Amino acid sequence: MNFRHLTSISLFLGISSGWNTDVHNQIGFMAEEFLSPYTASILGQILEPQYNGSIGRAAAWADAYAHTQEGRFSYQWHWIDVHDNPPSSCNLNFTRDCAPGGCVVSAIANQTNILRECIADVESGALTGGTNLTCSYALKWVSHFFGDIAQPLHASERAIGGNLFNVTFGGKIARLHAVWDKWIPYTDANVTAFSTQSIDPFFTALVARIRADKFFEAPYMWLACSDPTTPTECATQWARESNKWTCDYVYGKVDQESDLATNGYTVGAFPIVELQISKAALRLGTWLNKLVGTPETFKHEKQIVLGSTTE
Ligand SMILES: *[C@@H]1O[C@H](CO)[C@@H](O)[C@H](O)[C@H]1NC(C)=O
Ligand SMILES: *[C@@H]1O[C@H](CO)[C@@H](O)[C@H](O)[C@H]1NC(C)=O
Ligand SMILES: *[C@@H]1O[C@H](CO)[C@@H](O)[C@H](O)[C@H]1NC(C)=O
Ligand SMILES: *[C@@H]1O[C@H](CO)[C@@H](O)[C@H](O)[C@H]1NC(C)=O
Ligand SMILES: *[C@@H]1O[C@H](CO)[C@@H](O)[C@H](O)[C@H]1NC(C)=O
Ligand SMILES: *[C@@H]1O[C@H](CO)[C@@H](O)[C@H](O)[C@H]1NC(C)=O
Repeated sequence: MNFRHLTSISLFLGISSGWNTDVHNQIGFMAEEFLSPYTASILGQILEPQYNGSIGRAAAWADAYAHTQEGRFSYQWHWIDVHDNPPSSCNLNFTRDCAPGGCVVSAIANQTNILRECIADVESGALTGGTNLTCSYALKWVSHFFGDIAQPLHASERAIGGNLFNVTFGGKIARLHAVWDKWIPYTDANVTAFSTQSIDPFFTALVARIRADKFFEAPYMWLACSDPTTPTECATQWARESNKWTCDYVYGKVDQESDLATNGYTVGAFPIVELQISKAALRLGTWLNKLVGTPETFKHEKQIVLGSTTE
C-alpha cells in the first residue's frame, strides 16, 4: 500500500504509534542514568524549561505532536514500513523501505545532525534555556525514536505494524500492536501504568541488569554500532534487529485463536521486551554522550597535562 495512504488510514483510525507514552518516558529516564554530568548539563539548555532538563519527561512529546495539525508531517517518522513477509521472511532494505518524507531511520539521522549543531550552540553560549524550538524538538524526537525503533512492530509493514491484526488479550479483542506497546510491558511489571515524571522500579531494575551484564545478549554488543557520525547505518542495524523479532516471535508465535494473556505468548515475550527497551535506553544515553563529547575545558586541561608530561 502507498505510504501516504497508510498514514491517512492510521490517522483516521487513531491508531496508536509507538510504545505507550509512559513506556517512552521510562526509556528516557533509563537513558538519563547513563548520561555523563556534562551531557546532562548541555541537554538541560536544549530542552524547553517545562521538562526541567529531563529527556525522560520529554520522551513522549513526539506522539502528541504527531497527532496535531502542525506536527502531522512527523507522524510517519515513528516507524519504517518494511516490505517483507513475516513470519516466513524478514528482510529490511533501507532504500526500498524508507518512505519519501522519512521514516524512523532517516528521522534519527536527520535529527541527530540537527542536534549536533544545537550542542555546539550551547557550548558557544548562543543557546541557553531551551529557546530554540528546532533544537528542543530534535532532542525530543531523538529521545522518542530510539524507543520506537526498538519496538518490533515499528519495523514491519504487515497489517500496518500489527494495528489491523486482531488478537485476544485478557478476554478482549486487542490489536497486536497495542499488545506490544503496552500490555506486555504492563503485565511484565505488574502495573496498569508507569510514571511519566520519574523512573519506576521496573526500569531501575533493568538499568541494574544492564550494568551487571545480565541479559542473554551482552550490552556491549548492543553498542556495536553507536557512532553518531554514521546515524543511518546504526539506525538501520537497530531497525533490522527489531524487524527480525517480527519473524522470530511477534508473528512467528502468535495465535489468533487463543488468549495471548494466558497462552504463554505474553510471558514468552517478556525477555524480548526487556531486551529491546534496555537496548533503546543504553543506546540513547551512549549516543547523546558521544554526540556531546568531552567539554572543551577538560580537553584543554588534558592537553596541557599531556604536554607537560612529555617535556
Ligand atoms: C528539577 O531538576 C532539579 C535538578 O535535577 C531537581 O533538583 C528538582 O527537584 C527538579 N524539579 C522538579 C519540579 O522536578
Ligand atoms: C534494496 O532496494 C533497492 C531499491 O529497491 C534495490 O535497488 C537494492 O538492490 C536492494 N538491496 C538489496 C541488498 O536487496
Ligand atoms: C529533517 O528535519 C527538518 C527539521 O526538523 C525537517 O523539516 C525535515 O522534514 C526533516 N526531513 C526528514 C526526511 O526527516
Ligand atoms: C536553532 O538552532 C539551529 C541549529 O544550530 C539553527 O540552524 C537555527 O537557525 C536556530 N534557530 C533560531 C531561531 O535561532
Ligand atoms: C478487528 O477488531 C475491530 C474491533 O476492535 C473490528 O472493528 C474489526 O473489524 C476487526 N478486524 C478484523 C479483520 O477482524
Ligand atoms: C501484582 O500486583 C497485585 C496488586 O498490586 C498483587 O496482588 C500481586 O501479587 C502482584 N503479582 C506479582 C506477580 O507481583
